[in-house]
Amino acid sequence: MITVENLVKDFGPKRAVNRVSFTVKKGEILGFLGPNGAGKSTTMRMITGFIPPTSGRVVVGGHDVNEDPIPAKRLIGYLPESAPCYSDMTVHGFLSFAAEIRGLHGSAKEEAVRKAVGLCFLESVLHQSVDTLSKGFRHRTCLAQSIIHDPEVLVLDEPTDGLDPNQKHEIRQLLKRFGQNKAIIFSTHILEEVDAVCSRAVIIDRGHVVANGTPAELRARHDLAGSVSLRVQGVGAEAVRDRLAGLGIAGKVTVSSEAGSVLARVLPRDRTISGDLARAVAELAGREGWRFDELKTEEGRLDEVFRTITQPDSRRPAE
Ligand SMILES: Nc1ncnc2c1ncn2[C@@H]1O[C@H](COP(=O)(O)OP(=O)(O)O)[C@@H](O)[C@H]1O
Ligand SMILES: [Mg+2]
Repeated sequence: MITVENLVKDFGPKRAVNRVSFTVKKGEILGFLGPNGAGKSTTMRMITGFIPPTSGRVVVGGHDVNEDPIPAKRLIGYLPESAPCYSDMTVHGFLSFAAEIRGLHGSAKEEAVRKAVGLCFLESVLHQSVDTLSKGFRHRTCLAQSIIHDPEVLVLDEPTDGLDPNQKHEIRQLLKRFGQNKAIIFSTHILEEVDAVCSRAVIIDRGHVVANGTPAELRARHDLAGSVSLRVQGVGAEAVRDRLAGLGIAGKVTVSSEAGSVLARVLPRDRTISGDLARAVAELAGREGWRFDELKTEEGRLDEVFRTITQPDSRRPAE
């Protein structure tokens, strides 16, 4: 449904987006991650046809967004960054207006507004003016605008930004529901959101795509992914290390002592057999008669992967 090919955007001498390519299929929820200033919003503005690319192209539902914008934009619902709304309209007035500019009139319009209001939990503020809404309600009003025409493609720029944990949860549930029959791309810097909602994630840094994979594939890029950690009592650290290192499938072993117990971490010699490593460690502990109260396999942490493949703001060269 969405094909992004070699997308480039220059702002004067600054290249904000640099040869970005990816696709989103129907039924897919793509998380678009990256530090502040990485180029997420600029990419999304180009996907929706809000700004033209310097080069490259975007195809939505078979239509080139720049050459054939009307049919492409018909398919797209867009929640821009910071959720802009007309603040002097009521929620109902704003959504009716959004439905009309999407070509809905009469009972079809009323039905579309009713449905979007229900999905975004806006019943209680329907006749309140947008400028008196709390942030969560204003955000959901703008989200309701993006789904009013039941689009096949949703482009949501930080849909959970500034919401409280309950509201975040509601939006994630909504995305999961929509995701079953739409193609969704949403940006976030909340990494748990990737696990909670995404089928795939693309990470960009300084305009470049630096990772593209399922949450599990991305986690597996963590240095410690597949390692097994063990906490043992009543045995010396050296003995624990020697025995663990003697396992045929063990790679590097590190140990530390803390408060009477030994904390050991075993990296697999071969990352593809990490399941067997946990079993081998447990069997060894059984044979040795070790008392252990913790044994777990590290799946890899997205925040660590994110930190190792993107540069923090403070280390970036001045623009
Ligand atoms: N209209 C613009 N004019 C000049 N620079 C811009 C403009 N929009 C964005 N930028 C710059 O492009 C880079 C990417 O911005 P943006 O896409 O908003 O990042 P993100 O959404 O990932 O935080 C930033 O350095 C930003 O300052
Ligand atoms: Mg942004």
